[in-house]
Amino acid sequence: MSNSSAGRETWATRIGFILAAVGSAVGLGNIWRFPFQVGQNGGAAFVIMYLAFVVLIGFPAMMVEFVVGRKTGLNAVGGIREFAGGRWKYLGGLFVFIGFVILSYYSVVGGWVLRYVLGSATGRYMAQGPGEYFGQISVGMDALLAHAVFMLLVIGIVALGVKRGIEIAVKIMVPAIIAIFAVLAVYAFTLSGAGEAYSYYLSPDLGYLLDNWQSIVPAAAGQGFFTLSLGMGVMITYASYLSEDENLAIDGGTVVVFNTGISILTGLIVFPILFTAGVDPAAPGPGAIFVSVAEALGDLQFGRLIGVLFFTTVAIAALSSAISLIEVVVSYAIDEFGIARERATVFIGTAIFLLGAPVTIDIVMVDLYDIFAAQILLVLGGILLVTAVAWIYADKAIDELGKGVKSFSGLDKVWLWIVRIPVLVVLLVSLYLGID
Ligand code: PHE
Ligand code: NA
Repeated sequence: MSNSSAGRETWATRIGFILAAVGSAVGLGNIWRFPFQVGQNGGAAFVIMYLAFVVLIGFPAMMVEFVVGRKTGLNAVGGIREFAGGRWKYLGGLFVFIGFVILSYYSVVGGWVLRYVLGSATGRYMAQGPGEYFGQISVGMDALLAHAVFMLLVIGIVALGVKRGIEIAVKIMVPAIIAIFAVLAVYAFTLSGAGEAYSYYLSPDLGYLLDNWQSIVPAAAGQGFFTLSLGMGVMITYASYLSEDENLAIDGGTVVVFNTGISILTGLIVFPILFTAGVDPAAPGPGAIFVSVAEALGDLQFGRLIGVLFFTTVAIAALSSAISLIEVVVSYAIDEFGIARERATVFIGTAIFLLGAPVTIDIVMVDLYDIFAAQILLVLGGILLVTAVAWIYADKAIDELGKGVKSFSGLDKVWLWIVRIPVLVVLLVSLYLGID
């Protein structure tokens, strides 16, 4: 968003906002994080819990952020301060901190993706073997350089302004992802391990769920918040550019549906490939998507070309999410301190690069940063935001939700009570279990 002197801009079109919100949501959370969370948490048992979280907790929580953003027309920090006032301003500080932490390792993983664009073009990982290549590029100097390149791309796009950068990229990306992923899912369907994979991925073992709910619940909460870009004000910032004649619930529902569809589709690619190759789905960890897709491309006709298309699309998805992460911090610096967009972006982007540098030392660092950010920070951010909006300033929230809607016939009150009790309780339990 360029800073015209006439004030803050709004999205060029309604579809522009939806696309940007989808662009933020759809990213490495769907394509990289989702499959390895499924793998580490027992397959379909996790998937079921995750779906429940997205619909029953994530969607209502997204409305909470939309309401604050549109009502105040401000960035995450200014927005929460204006909406709730007083001490809640520190919550905005937490959002900015979370944005820093998440983007710092998100960019490292984004760098891996860039290496896979290259590796597909040259055919190197096919020659070398999927596991070896991943081991080589995911740590050390290689990873550090790729992390730098990814951050440079983010800085470039954001310094140019939100609308031009994000809206255009996302308009191309969403259809591209669906098309390319659908082709790969059909390919995966033809593999010998597909049947076994589908039952692992789609038919939940309730006994497993009951025995392991204490680890599945916080993992599903973390994934639900991470994947929907919730708990750190991204959706506040994006909704701040919205006008009042839009129905927030429909926009939010659209985001949830696209985002969930792409995650499920990703699993339909990854698991048949892993099962066919005889790999335990828990084993590859954060490398699951890279190792499995590389495995598949090795025996596909035009594998290299498909690889370039696939990883380029993933890179664009990752960039559009990264942009939303840095935008929380950048729009804060612009609105609160009057720093110019270009300067703010370069400075903040550099700081984030440095914070992410240690992640390239060892792959365990990815897990460390990631669990801390998703299972603890985002869930904590969500708890505080929901408390402020739904308990303390409920009247304002209900009023804002109703704008652009002909009649809710009581559904707005249902939303309020869902957010007040079940959402809050489940998030508190998840945080408690997640810290444990
Ligand atoms: N939702 C993004 C993804 O799934 C990641 C993200 C998290 C973006 C939090 C913004 C805020 O990749
Ligand atoms: Na996502």
